[in-house]
Amino acid sequence: ERLPALLAAMPKAELHIHIEGSLEPEMIFALAQRNGLTLPYADVEALRRAYAFSDLQSFLDIYYAGASVLLHEQDFYDMARAYLARAAMDNVAHAEIFFDPQTHTARGVSMETVINGLHRACQDAQAELGISSSLILCFLRHLSEEDAFATLEHAQPFLGRFIGVGLDSSEVGHPPEKFARVFARCRELGLHLVAHAGEEGPPEYIWSALDVLKVERIDHGVQALRDAALVRRLASERIALTVCPLSNLKLCVFPDLAQHNLKRLLDAGLAATVNSDDPAYFGGYINQNFAQVFAAVPELTARDAWQLAHNSFAASFAPEARKRAWQ
Ligand code: ADE
Ligand code: ZN
Repeated sequence: ERLPALLAAMPKAELHIHIEGSLEPEMIFALAQRNGLTLPYADVEALRRAYAFSDLQSFLDIYYAGASVLLHEQDFYDMARAYLARAAMDNVAHAEIFFDPQTHTARGVSMETVINGLHRACQDAQAELGISSSLILCFLRHLSEEDAFATLEHAQPFLGRFIGVGLDSSEVGHPPEKFARVFARCRELGLHLVAHAGEEGPPEYIWSALDVLKVERIDHGVQALRDAALVRRLASERIALTVCPLSNLKLCVFPDLAQHNLKRLLDAGLAATVNSDDPAYFGGYINQNFAQVFAAVPELTARDAWQLAHNSFAASFAPEARKRAWQ
């Protein structure tokens, strides 16, 4: 392995983590037992064996099934508190955490239950571990615009408890334009805006995330290199890409990590960052993402490591004074 001590020790921000994707199989089973639910898997090992994905959708099916054990505020608290403790061990100083409320409200869990549990975990982790964190509400793009508007309506009483909105779930066939009006409303509300684009979907989805949704960062964005004009746009505006190497590997976006384009993104002048996406499902938290992509791509240097950490703070939505202190 290359640069392992530097990669592990350097302070970093994590900007692309789905909290439901941090739910480890052990916690899925513990929560199922606590909540009196029966899972269609015999044990933790059987569940883990099902984590063999061929593309984004094959992952999402099992990810939503795993999240169905979350019922009570304490469940959301325990999940987020465990992630933040794990992230602090990887020297994450600041995390901006996605959550998917529609996955829960569709099962009868209230928005208040979801947000209060997650928010309390963020507060306690700051006090007990010194890690800062914020929440970003994601709309599920396979659902309708109407459903997204209803979700925003339910979240409005808790506007002080999340800093922005994102767009996730099945990308291809659900272009950003579908959510133009919801994002315009979120913008009026003063929320930060991000969206998954160019994970499996084409460069055109990145263009429309920027021009139609007016997002400030692109989640994934690895397909951008297919479009030279788009690369120039992303570089000139320093639009950050929240890249997730192990996710890309496990969802077969790249055939192996040696083929990952992280180095090419950096060399093109793009503000790439490294993140874990859904670490319980993809085999590694943020430091494993750094270690494995640096091991597989020997062109990545110590200077690149420093740049990636720098980019993560620069692209975060933390107050400018705090960003300057970290950088
Ligand atoms: N939800 C959780 N992880 C995701 C990913 N990598 N892409 C789209 N939606 C997601
Ligand atoms: Zn993601």
